[in-house]
Amino acid sequence: MKLTENIYLVGSGEIGLSNNYDCHVYLVDGGSDAILIDAGVGIEPEKIKANVEKYVPWDKVSRVLCTHSHADHSGGSEYFQKEGKEVWLSKEEYDWMSNSKAEVEEALRLAINAGGYPEGYVFSYFKPDHVMNEDELITCGDLKLRPIHVRGHSPGMYCFYMEADDGNVLFASDFVFINGDIGLLNAPGSDLASYREDIGKLKDLLVDAMFSGHRLFLLKNGQAHIQKAIEQLDKVFMPSTF
Ligand SMILES: [Fe+2]
Repeated sequence: MKLTENIYLVGSGEIGLSNNYDCHVYLVDGGSDAILIDAGVGIEPEKIKANVEKYVPWDKVSRVLCTHSHADHSGGSEYFQKEGKEVWLSKEEYDWMSNSKAEVEEALRLAINAGGYPEGYVFSYFKPDHVMNEDELITCGDLKLRPIHVRGHSPGMYCFYMEADDGNVLFASDFVFINGDIGLLNAPGSDLASYREDIGKLKDLLVDAMFSGHRLFLLKNGQAHIQKAIEQLDKVFMPSTF
């Protein structure tokens, strides 16, 4: 599904584009290069590939940028690596995924209990081809994506910010959603105090399009929805979460 001049939705369980358990998977076409934002859950990943091929040749996709290590976003990593794509993950998230396996597994168990994954689902731990730092600017053909490290949903989550000709874009992953809902979880790795500390990093970006990892995406006024999240995290009551 074409969303903007350069961005396509190529995976989503919620709207039936790919496997039921996939997050929203976005394709960014920078002209000479293309990247995927997130890898999906890893069940029927070929459906994501087939959707990509509706818009760009498969060979043009060089990388998958995983926003965080939750299985619905990164479980497909091994498949894409076997297909010759590099998988990139933040240094902070890779550290958490590899050094805190008990926490990762407990979060997975709680997610399976909530119906987020099928019974018996096993997460494929993967080794990223590149470990990202927050200060690196990622080039995709004519486009540049700036990673923003935001803790609260997962310790090493990166959102990606991009200034395109038709507006400013934030790939917001599970950090912030439409109407300012946040992605606080009852699970290890998710933390409300970190949300309070890091939400301000999304202030003043003048975001037009906001492409979150679930629920409805926004083509304009994204910053107003981010502002709602900032405001509710500045009050004493529990913020509304997805
Ligand atoms: Fe997540």
